[in-house]
Amino acid sequence: MENVKTATKKPVVKKKVLYVAAECKGFMTTGGLAEVAGSLPKGIMDTDKTYDVRVIMPLYKKIIDTYGEKLEYIGQKYINMPRDKQYCGVFKYVKDGVIHYFIDNRYYFYRDGSPYGHYDDGERFAFFSKAVLEVLDIIDFYPDIINANDWHTALVNIYLDVYYKKNQYYTNIKSVFTIHNIEYQGVYGKDFNYNVMDIGMENLSLVEYNGNINLIKGAIVCSDLVTTVSPTYANEIKDPFYSCGLYHIINQNAFKLRGIINGIDINFYNPKTDNVIKPNYDLKTIELKKEVKQNLQRKLGLQENPNACIVSVISRLASHKGIDLIIDRFHDIMRENVQFIVLGTGEQYYENKFRGFEWAYPGRVKACITFNTDLSKEIYAGSDCFLMPSKMEPCGLSQMIASRYGTVPIVRATGGLRDTIIDYGDNGNGFVFQEYNSFHMLDKIKQAAGLYTDYKDQWKELVDRVMKMDFSWNASAKLYIKEYEQLLNKE
Ligand code: GLC
Repeated sequence: MENVKTATKKPVVKKKVLYVAAECKGFMTTGGLAEVAGSLPKGIMDTDKTYDVRVIMPLYKKIIDTYGEKLEYIGQKYINMPRDKQYCGVFKYVKDGVIHYFIDNRYYFYRDGSPYGHYDDGERFAFFSKAVLEVLDIIDFYPDIINANDWHTALVNIYLDVYYKKNQYYTNIKSVFTIHNIEYQGVYGKDFNYNVMDIGMENLSLVEYNGNINLIKGAIVCSDLVTTVSPTYANEIKDPFYSCGLYHIINQNAFKLRGIINGIDINFYNPKTDNVIKPNYDLKTIELKKEVKQNLQRKLGLQENPNACIVSVISRLASHKGIDLIIDRFHDIMRENVQFIVLGTGEQYYENKFRGFEWAYPGRVKACITFNTDLSKEIYAGSDCFLMPSKMEPCGLSQMIASRYGTVPIVRATGGLRDTIIDYGDNGNGFVFQEYNSFHMLDKIKQAAGLYTDYKDQWKELVDRVMKMDFSWNASAKLYIKEYEQLLNKE
């Protein structure tokens, strides 16, 4: 019989992390930030039971419309903004075991459409950031660590440093700032300070950059730790080409910069259980992927040709995603044995280019100029190759999602793409080109399509390697925990 320990268990004192984000999957999604905010907190808690990670975000109209009465009201107060006092309600909802808090102010957040791109974004997120620090008593959760994300929540860490740490309840809170994309910095004129931001003149230099207010710069300077979403990107942003003007600041603060690759939610993206994929499959039943492909071809009006190699792009149609390379070489790509699918919205020029290509190659090209999660899964699963020729890619999640569905990534070696995909020539899990050059991209597409068409066995082996990649949060959650622990042990 086993020895039974009789001592009563000591209650575990949990380490508390408040994860602050402008978007979070399940509530509001526009991009990768939501994917991470929607899966990392659970990833950390699944990995280490001594962590209690909670999420806080604005209460957008869409969340009220979706969850309505299910949101639990927990309290309210008024927040001082430079020109007035603003109501701040706090609501709560538990999703997949993760507690989410929502900051309610209908003047700022009860709007249709995207959470960004409003004339007063700076003010909306300044209010939100102040509210996060103000409601800790209402939510009764004084965290050990606040992990803010991107420029929208940069002011949380700035306010914490310049004002709140003086208060004994806040003194020991450590701050982490995660950069998901350094391109978006939250840049405003100086008037932003007295109209909106409201930090004293004596602190202004912390947030000033190139004659403007730059919120990301302020957060980099004020936070205890700065992370970004891949090791390669952490290095790249020390360079003028990638840093969008901030390399001085990055280099000065390199001592507190870490690059941790994102994971993906492998339960949400799972070809074996996904109910939008017909039929379901996994590595053992990979033959069924052919049927998913055929269904996709039928649905999108492509020729039902099993031998054509389907190359897909699911992306914001923006320049830094490398869309120009695709457009430059499109007719060359179509000389290969391929079909081409694009799903995404973005700059009108690109949208129209792809519409034109669909018209020029009936039955071989499909341009879905929309954003649709279900369709994206059908495309991830039904395609053979997934193309990501990004100019810059802090992490990139799509190459990992595609891999999960056994679809082979073709990527440029930048940021997280470099850290996750190794070239076929090196016995890797995809096709990788180095320089931002459309002919180099074309070479890799040709190589992939050639292998797919003429070397079925090798292709199968490649798909096998691709599907066996572990892109779950397992490894990365451990890295976050390691960094958090170091912070907590620091005086
Ligand atoms: C941003 C980046 C993307 C990254 C995502 C999540 O959207 O552009 O590369 O994967 O954030 O961190």
